[in-house]
Amino acid sequence: MLRIENLSKSFGGVHAIEKLSIDFAPGSLSAVIGPNGAGKTTFFNLISGGLQPDSGNIWLEGENMVGLSRNAIVHKGIGRAFQVAKLFKTLTVEESLRAALQSALGHASQMHGNFPLRATRDRAHEVMAQLGLQHKADTVSGNLSHGDQKLLDMALALVMRPKVLLLDEPVAGMGPDERTQMMDTVQHLWRQGGLTIVLIEHDMELVFRVAQQINVLSYGKLLAQGTADEIRQHPKVIEAYLGKPQEHVGE
Ligand SMILES: Nc1ncnc2c1ncn2[C@@H]1O[C@H](COP(=O)(O)OP(=O)(O)O)[C@@H](O)[C@H]1O
Ligand SMILES: [Mg+2]
Repeated sequence: MLRIENLSKSFGGVHAIEKLSIDFAPGSLSAVIGPNGAGKTTFFNLISGGLQPDSGNIWLEGENMVGLSRNAIVHKGIGRAFQVAKLFKTLTVEESLRAALQSALGHASQMHGNFPLRATRDRAHEVMAQLGLQHKADTVSGNLSHGDQKLLDMALALVMRPKVLLLDEPVAGMGPDERTQMMDTVQHLWRQGGLTIVLIEHDMELVFRVAQQINVLSYGKLLAQGTADEIRQHPKVIEAYLGKPQEHVGE
């Protein structure tokens, strides 16, 4: 499905991602975890085309995504939500989703005056219902609660019908109840089928509950990979998490 092969990216002397190879199976729910500065966000930036790798390949169903524009990658089927939600703050939830769809449909359809208004509205409502945002359709995005802003950010990726959905810390900045609720929403979305989900999170316990495959990053390298039980007992993971925190702190 999504195969990362020997991927590397440095910033100056910092090897943010170093010769990283990971396979994400079709329809799986996986997590990428690791301390602050481990390279998690850089990893997503590389996959979604926000950054170009120094070397390596990113295969989506056998097609290399490296070198493609961000838009092209979205069209190929990789959607992404951000650690800090990127929203159109002055638009309502429904307007935001329709704007995202319409802008992705591109210039060509606009020039031909071909705005499928009905279709974008229906699709927006479908996604709001999936994420429990339907009652917020007319709320201005900037006025949403933090949790709902994170949901909307996820909805903006989802509305494009991605094959792979990348979620960068979907529960960042949330209280304990909200975190559980958000993880339930992610799991619910995944159980509806058809989506390969990869989520980033630094709280291990939270991902142990939902992820089938867990990839632990440390200094841009794969420290360990496995199920929750395997990761929990992995000596290198225990050492990394109980040992010194990573020096370079990201964001
Ligand atoms: N745009 C950038 N320019 C320079 N250094 C960066 C940039 N993005 C990330 N880094 C560095 O790369 C490393 C990994 O960062 P990041 O991917 O944000 O980690 P994480 O998301 O796991 O906290 C850190 O040392 C960070 O300071
Ligand atoms: Mg990050």
